[in-house]
Amino acid sequence: MSSPVELQRLAVEIAREAGELAARRRHEGVSIAATKSALADIVTDADREVEALIRDRLAADRPDDGFLGEESGAGVSRSGVTWVVDPIDGTVNYAYGIPAYAVSIAAVEGEPDPASWTALAGAVFSPAVGELFQAARGEGAFLDGRRLTVTDPVSAAGALIATGFGYDPATHAGDLARLMKVMPLARDIRRMGAASLDLAGVAAGRLDGYFERGLHPWDIAAGSLLVLEAGGRVGGIGGRGPGRTMTIAAGPDLFRRLSDVITD
Ligand code: IPD
Repeated sequence: MSSPVELQRLAVEIAREAGELAARRRHEGVSIAATKSALADIVTDADREVEALIRDRLAADRPDDGFLGEESGAGVSRSGVTWVVDPIDGTVNYAYGIPAYAVSIAAVEGEPDPASWTALAGAVFSPAVGELFQAARGEGAFLDGRRLTVTDPVSAAGALIATGFGYDPATHAGDLARLMKVMPLARDIRRMGAASLDLAGVAAGRLDGYFERGLHPWDIAAGSLLVLEAGGRVGGIGGRGPGRTMTIAAGPDLFRRLSDVITD
């Protein structure tokens, strides 16, 4: 198996290529599509095309590794390493021309399940903004060469906390009830629309914390490693690991306080 740093190098290289393709397609899409459904179609095409690029590049370089992607599903690992990929995280932003979207690529060891995997390396590239976040296990998290550190403890005035709302309307009442419980800890709330960038924001100290229900492994694989390597914590409810039921990310102090109020 390669070292986390080698995996990180590959994740970064491919994330840059993939992000440039996404940005190019976004640019072409704006000029072609004027209506919502056409825009959505273009986004779907771009998601698939970007994921295919990432998958092909990984298959060529690392044929024995597994693959878990948002658009093209799973490929079994023979090496113990699986690449967990969201080709365009923040698809709605992408469709609307909001720059907060990112390519998220991570290499994990073990089953590709956030509750049990060990993340080895990750890259989150935001092509519209030109920022590349990266981390390798045990080596720290970096944004364009600058080492990242979570905010801990947070200001007494309250925390800047991001969240998201899953796409399933049946879960929205629960999402809002949970948000009401979190509000007393917050200075303000953000809903940016790209989980990988929310997690990168926590790692960079731009956000104090983040929580969301309903996330998929590809939404959080790279971003969670960024938070851990920046000195933060990532988990679920009641001491369990992060996953679909809940993902909480913050510096240790706020993580404890968020975990106390987020109980379902
Ligand atoms: C979505 C984004 C969004 C989050 C959703 C995710 P996608 O990922 O990360 O912020 O609220 O739960 O599904 O669909 O844009 O890759």
